[in-house]
Amino acid sequence: AFADVPLAPPDAILNLSTMYKSDTSDQKVDLGVGAYRDNDGKPWVLPVVRKAEKQIADAQLEHEYLPIAGLKSFTDAAAVLLLGSDNPAIVDQRVVSFQTISGTGANFLGATFLSRFYPKGTLVLLSDPTWANHKNIFNSASLETQDYKYYDPATLGLDLAGMLSSLQDAPSGSIVLLHACAHNPTGVDPTQEQWKRIADVMQAKGHFPFFDCAYQGFASGDLDRDAFAIRYFIERGFECSIAQSFAKNLGLYGERVGCYHVVTRNAAVANQVRSQIARASRAIISNPPLYGARVASTVLNSPTLLAEWKDSLRFMSGRILDMRAELRRLMLEKGTPGNWDHITSQIGMFTFTGLNPEQVNYMVKKHHIYMTKNGRISMAGLSTHNVQHVAQAIDDVVRN
Ligand code: LMR
Repeated sequence: AFADVPLAPPDAILNLSTMYKSDTSDQKVDLGVGAYRDNDGKPWVLPVVRKAEKQIADAQLEHEYLPIAGLKSFTDAAAVLLLGSDNPAIVDQRVVSFQTISGTGANFLGATFLSRFYPKGTLVLLSDPTWANHKNIFNSASLETQDYKYYDPATLGLDLAGMLSSLQDAPSGSIVLLHACAHNPTGVDPTQEQWKRIADVMQAKGHFPFFDCAYQGFASGDLDRDAFAIRYFIERGFECSIAQSFAKNLGLYGERVGCYHVVTRNAAVANQVRSQIARASRAIISNPPLYGARVASTVLNSPTLLAEWKDSLRFMSGRILDMRAELRRLMLEKGTPGNWDHITSQIGMFTFTGLNPEQVNYMVKKHHIYMTKNGRISMAGLSTHNVQHVAQAIDDVVRN
């Protein structure tokens, strides 16, 4: 029955981790997947997560099913983290929150809901470029996608004029996927002023904002500042969707901890929306997994652990900033042709190096440095031990 199934290409990001693992070179460096590493290249379990895990183990809890919407103490705290506790949308009970299988599950649950209840044929506009999985997710939920201009290769920065005109030219009422902060893969975010201009066009066109928030706390090291765009759009009166992940900021990658939120017009609409998302989520996962949500809930609901978590976020984003400064310094020291300012001006977990697919191929094959084909490197994979080797390799592929 399956003889004609065409072979799908390997995953653009996760396949790199597999390739890295099977590489036997002692020079190998993993700059592929966006996952935090300590200065020895090791995964880092946040101290607050260890403490929460201990509390959970000591409490001898059972393993019953969660409700379809998930662990309420977690989803409520997650909404507060995004919107702020005094946000009128929360106060007026017009935010719908569902626990999901991390950010991917949140995007997919949102896509599924919108494909059923948004006018048929509505386009989902994705930034060019965007996270390698976005198109796959929205297409899997039967939504058509189209690119909007975002990144300007000439300046290695934001093409604001291009972005605004793409949004202007798109059919009214389109769904626009926006990266709330720390844009993946480019590391290029709009400024607060630029967000205002984006909101102006989106409001005039009646577009629907769908925020993907996978890096809150990783862009500026400050959870509130990184939520600016979401809070600003809500303040402007938009209804919106938010896919929220705790993979990176709490380091809960494999536990798959996330939420899908919809900010609606009023509490009655919220109830209607909630009932339909519940049906959709019941079909996909029935009810979400308990363990990671318990860990996140324990951290988010304890003022002491929350404060300690914020320290860890500053620590992680600070180490990434140090690596940005060091990599740029080395490129300048080597006099590598090109402008390397973007290494320090781009933010969050990634740098969009500007290396082309052929150069990336050399980075992998010759230098054992794993990075995505679009030239993205995960800055958390750099350390004081390997940054020299990476700088040398970039210099080599640029010159040759
Ligand atoms: C990434 O972009 O590297 C991460 O979001 C991991 C993933 O799931 O692709």
